[in-house]
Amino acid sequence: MAKSSKVSIVGAGGNVGSIVAYSIAMQGLAHEVILVDRDKDRAQGKALDMNQAAAAVRTHSIVRAAKDYTDIEGSKVVVITAGFPRKPGMSRDDLLLANADIVSEVVENIKKHAPDSIIIVVTNPLDTMTYVALKKSGFPKNRVIGMAGILDGARMTHFIYEKLGFGAGQIRATVIGGHGDYMVPLPRYSTVAGIPITDLLTPKELDEVVEATKKGGAQIVKLMGTSAYFAPGKATAIMVEAILQDSKKIYPCSTLLEGEYGVHGIPNGVPVTLGSNGVEEIIELQLTPREKEEFQRSVDSVKELIDILESQNYFGEKE
Ligand code: NAI
Ligand code: 2OP
Repeated sequence: MAKSSKVSIVGAGGNVGSIVAYSIAMQGLAHEVILVDRDKDRAQGKALDMNQAAAAVRTHSIVRAAKDYTDIEGSKVVVITAGFPRKPGMSRDDLLLANADIVSEVVENIKKHAPDSIIIVVTNPLDTMTYVALKKSGFPKNRVIGMAGILDGARMTHFIYEKLGFGAGQIRATVIGGHGDYMVPLPRYSTVAGIPITDLLTPKELDEVVEATKKGGAQIVKLMGTSAYFAPGKATAIMVEAILQDSKKIYPCSTLLEGEYGVHGIPNGVPVTLGSNGVEEIIELQLTPREKEEFQRSVDSVKELIDILESQNYFGEKE
């Protein structure tokens, strides 16, 4: 049962943001879905189109384009998809400086107009943009969350199915770490109808699944000339749903680690429970020494990007 609530999406004129909004509206998850984009005509066109789709399926969600940021007032969740996507040959990290400026500008407005909201960051490089949003908003860490692990886990699920040829809908795959080349797919925490995939696939097949998962985003960029949006949009809507419904479901999300997994002050993807307070619990998996090493490499790669921003005094903390 949907609850009365408002969700705003900044960057909603674009590919990922519009799928987030469409998923929420089609499920009737929120009463109001507000589309913000610097391309206002595009946001308005998408809002009309989606509102008419919602009318066709008779959900109660109303989709509107924002005239300006005052329209996000009262939002329970604000999703940030504003920013540049990857083009062929680009890594997510190539987007660092341009997208940090966009996320900073967006967060200033969220702070002003929706100071009690929960921010879900989607813009890449994801874990670093989550850090930017956290620092620039000053919100408590439970209210600034990055989306990636649900998407990467869904990709791993797909590649497991491709190997097995059965079990669709019964596969659960876990990916932790940053949303980048050093993400950490975890076969040991992946199952089909409760059966560990380590019992069903050979070590070579598992290695192939892991590699395909890490390259899953780039594979789509190469085919389409821009990055994926259906799975990223849906994965984000799943987080919105867990928050609006206070479901306490467990999903891997990027969250600031403060001692968990031995990491201090860096956001990274780990399983968390999502509820009306955002991230409510961080779950610490018992990793093997090799998994720990891989996770640390992933954390280090996020830290390198944060260090670039800090070296430019991006957060204004140096004298
Ligand atoms: P897009 O180019 O289709 O959409 C971006 C939208 O942001 C555009 O409509 C643009 O007008 C808007 N925008 C740019 N600057 C803005 C500002 N200052 N204020 C308001 N709106 C602004 O790009 P797409 O494909 O939707 O990707 C969006 C971001 O999400 C990219 O950074 C991409 O890399 C990232 N992404 C992250 C994923 C993840 O797993 N975390 C998965 C897929 C994409
Ligand atoms: C993806 O993984 C590019 O982060 C984007 O599809």
